[in-house]
Amino acid sequence: MANPLFRKKSIDKIKAEYEAGQSDHHGGGLKKVLGVRDLTFLGIAAVVGAGIFSTIGGAAFDGGPGVSVLFIITAITCGFSALCYAEFASRVPVAGSAYTYSYVTFGELIAWIIGWALILEYAIGNIVVAISWSSYFNNLLVHLFNIHLPDWMLVDPGTAVHAFNTATTEMATGLVTDPEKIKSYQFAIEAYNSAPMVAGYRIFFNLPAFIIVALITWVAYIGIKESKNSANYMVIFKIAVIIFVIVAGAFFVDTNNWRPFMPNGFEGVLKGVSAVFYAYIGFDAISTTAEECKNPQRDMPRGMIYSLLICTGLYILIALVLTGIENYSKFDGVNDPLAFVFKERAPWIETIISISAVVATTSVLLVFQIGQPRIWMAMSRDGLLPKKFQKVHPKFQTPSFATIVTGILVGIGALFLEGDLVTDLTSIGTLFAFVLVSGGVLLLPPRPKEPGKFNLPYINGQFIVPVLLAIFCYFFWDRINDAVVNIGHESYQKILFLVFILFAAIFSILTFIRKYSLIPIMGVLTCMYLMIEIPAVSWQWFFIWMGLGLAIYFFYGYRNSKLAKEK
Ligand code: ALA
Repeated sequence: MANPLFRKKSIDKIKAEYEAGQSDHHGGGLKKVLGVRDLTFLGIAAVVGAGIFSTIGGAAFDGGPGVSVLFIITAITCGFSALCYAEFASRVPVAGSAYTYSYVTFGELIAWIIGWALILEYAIGNIVVAISWSSYFNNLLVHLFNIHLPDWMLVDPGTAVHAFNTATTEMATGLVTDPEKIKSYQFAIEAYNSAPMVAGYRIFFNLPAFIIVALITWVAYIGIKESKNSANYMVIFKIAVIIFVIVAGAFFVDTNNWRPFMPNGFEGVLKGVSAVFYAYIGFDAISTTAEECKNPQRDMPRGMIYSLLICTGLYILIALVLTGIENYSKFDGVNDPLAFVFKERAPWIETIISISAVVATTSVLLVFQIGQPRIWMAMSRDGLLPKKFQKVHPKFQTPSFATIVTGILVGIGALFLEGDLVTDLTSIGTLFAFVLVSGGVLLLPPRPKEPGKFNLPYINGQFIVPVLLAIFCYFFWDRINDAVVNIGHESYQKILFLVFILFAAIFSILTFIRKYSLIPIMGVLTCMYLMIEIPAVSWQWFFIWMGLGLAIYFFYGYRNSKLAKEK
């Protein structure tokens, strides 16, 4: 008998039910309103947000202008995965995203693991977005309305304490001379000392981040149509502003700032992996709305690919403009890089950017806040989560309970958690999902080309993959050597790197023997590579998170799975 951990849903059954329009997978009462344009907009709505407006500041500092290369590498990586998502989307047109896709290819346990990892992408990822929203919103409050909220209600405890400790230590040395630095240290110390105390502890929380999450949850709760319309307007506005920033910024570019192109070498560029990848996350969120699409098998693949292409073009240009206007060394600790470069040069542009950042991050919040409950809904329908998660609101036709739980989880996280760690966790979780989706495509049975539906082209990877691995090893030879020699007393990062090389070698051999399709294999390998570039400390949290997920599965899902009951 097959191992129940790997029991699978059948694509044919899902498809037949879908086509017959009578399954419980078929909409369950959700409205079918989305076309290809809406989906492309939805993709952009999810992608362009906190990443480009906030987190890439640090990446530009570490990588210099070379960060634009990372945008290209990451786009190619995402491109492989997007094509694999598209292949699945055209075969399995039901909500649930990577979760559903892995259920039909790898079986239940991996599907659960993916569903659990997707919480990192959607709910935990949204915490970063809410934090970024809050800082730009506060910027507007101060500059446009002269309203100053107390600092202790604008920051999480971790960041406040860390900033205070750094500031006191640095100031105590008496060596700090840069007036900007002194100002920022004094600010951190004052903010800390002015926080109220409860039971001997200073209190900090990020109130605006919490409030925006509550508002967005409300919009997601009252309906996809309303959400779709608001998302479309927001996308038009943010894209217009990004194009404007690129064009206006081009006039301020000093090409001397592009030299040296990689001031900290390629290693410096790679430090930005998590931030840059984070900026691309979102095109896959389209796949959670399959049941609200008019023609998911044709439109979802297009929507994903179009949105990824548009964002890639914009990002590469933005990265070049940003690092061309200001020297990379100025981006240390800058969380609002786009606004920052215009602060002195054209303050009115800074204001436009801040408004746009608020709008952009709002739309990202919306898409993920809509996506998460739909994944839970799919998991609940399969019996892996309690029934409440599939409850559709009788009037609004949205998964009401799951939407509220998402709101609570993200809201509380946004109040208290630190942005950087959450960004890394989100990127690892999402890359992990991408690895499995790409790998899953290799397990799909071949099918005849169907007109009007997306078909992933087959390119034989037999020779290309081993050759690419050999080229990779050639360029990274020093690093491989260093990792092998120092493995005993060096960091986990080196172990991760060696594990990647090992996996890559195994996959190359398998591809050589089995003539695997190039695109999915490249999806697996490139995403794995980006994963291992994320700091090892975040991997520890990732494992803890996944361990918790497994415990829940064995405690609940394993026994309550619908497939288990069907047997
Ligand atoms: N890509 C999304 C953002 O940058 C998650 O906000």
